[in-house]
Amino acid sequence: MAEPVLEVGGLVKHYPLTQGVLFRKQVGAVRAVDGVDFTLLKGETLGIVGESGCGKSTLARLLVQLERPTQGTIRYRGEDITGLSGRALKAVRRDIQMVFQDPYTSLNPRMTVGDIVGEPYEIHPEAAPKGDRRRRVRELLEVVGLNPEHVNRYPHQFSGGQRQRIGIARGLALRPGIIVADEPVSALDVSVQAQVINLMERLQDEFDLSYVFIAHDLSVVRHISDRVGVMYLGKIVEIGTETEIYDHPTHPYTQALLSAVPVPDPEAREHRDRIILSGDVPSPTDIPSGCRFRTRCWKARERCALEVPPLAVPEEFRTATGPAAHDSACHFAEERRVVPPEQSAG
Ligand SMILES: Nc1ncnc2c1ncn2[C@@H]1O[C@H](COP(=O)(O)OP(=O)(O)OP(=O)(O)O)[C@@H](O)[C@H]1O
Ligand code: SF4
Ligand SMILES: [Mg+2]
Repeated sequence: MAEPVLEVGGLVKHYPLTQGVLFRKQVGAVRAVDGVDFTLLKGETLGIVGESGCGKSTLARLLVQLERPTQGTIRYRGEDITGLSGRALKAVRRDIQMVFQDPYTSLNPRMTVGDIVGEPYEIHPEAAPKGDRRRRVRELLEVVGLNPEHVNRYPHQFSGGQRQRIGIARGLALRPGIIVADEPVSALDVSVQAQVINLMERLQDEFDLSYVFIAHDLSVVRHISDRVGVMYLGKIVEIGTETEIYDHPTHPYTQALLSAVPVPDPEAREHRDRIILSGDVPSPTDIPSGCRFRTRCWKARERCALEVPPLAVPEEFRTATGPAAHDSACHFAEERRVVPPEQSAG
């Protein structure tokens, strides 16, 4: 069994909601991340999926230490890193890098590609001696499939897919152990998405990386992930291996999300179990009591408003073995295959 590299426990990020101009007073909180637990193993890819606004990017920023959590802990290789500052924090930041969503806005248009990819060495000069940086940058460009001769070009001289390769090269510069990728291919054309994902898979083996791969597109996440966590309103509601989540989902929200994935084959589409959710996602400032999904759940009963369902193997599956016995935060979890088997792969 691989060792855990990241252990996240009870992670919370609340943003204060204030009113008034002169006398700002706090009237509530945006509960962007509201109690997240998971473990990331060495060499694995954990996919995180969920609708817009469910807290994916906030979680990403917490993991790479760009923001401090309101509560909870993040352990990196066994050490609690949530309270670190100064040098110790800098060292951890070097090991956990982020790749951003939009390759059009995340690269400084006035910097050359060489300066962008080499920028991490300015922040962490100990990572590479000054005389060696140019060579390393060219090597990194080559590793991500770009021409090292283009080191003096500017971002606008590259396509979207190539820009994301530049972002990945920068993410690799300090030789991190973990990369948190926040929607790294969402802004790209489908054909280019596959190329960038293939590149990320190759780099994972080559550099022994662990990934947290965030996306709203379930098919993209399935392709690259070993395990997948499904987020709703700041919490993971179901988590398991790729097969457990896609072929044996037990949480109603996961089932609804999966049922909305486009199925290209018309015949398979007819056999698909389509679930249409009623209502909108509640505001993260006003999260429903008990199960936070209950205002949109077709199975909700009284107990759902009173008791928060824990993220654990549900009672009815506790003695079972097999793919349905995985963590799912639902009082009435049931297996329901939504996507036809031949369609769910890849
Ligand atoms: N700095 C902030 N201050 C206040 N609220 C914030 C802040 N950052 C995020 N939020 C709120 O927290 C919630 C979660 O936002 P987040 O960006 O993490 O969602 P997301 O899942 O990444 O969404 P998307 O799929 O659209 O990228 C949203 O309601 C958002 O408005
Ligand atoms: S706990 Fe209740 S409301 Fe929540 S997902 Fe399960 S059945 Fe639906
Ligand atoms: Mg986001």
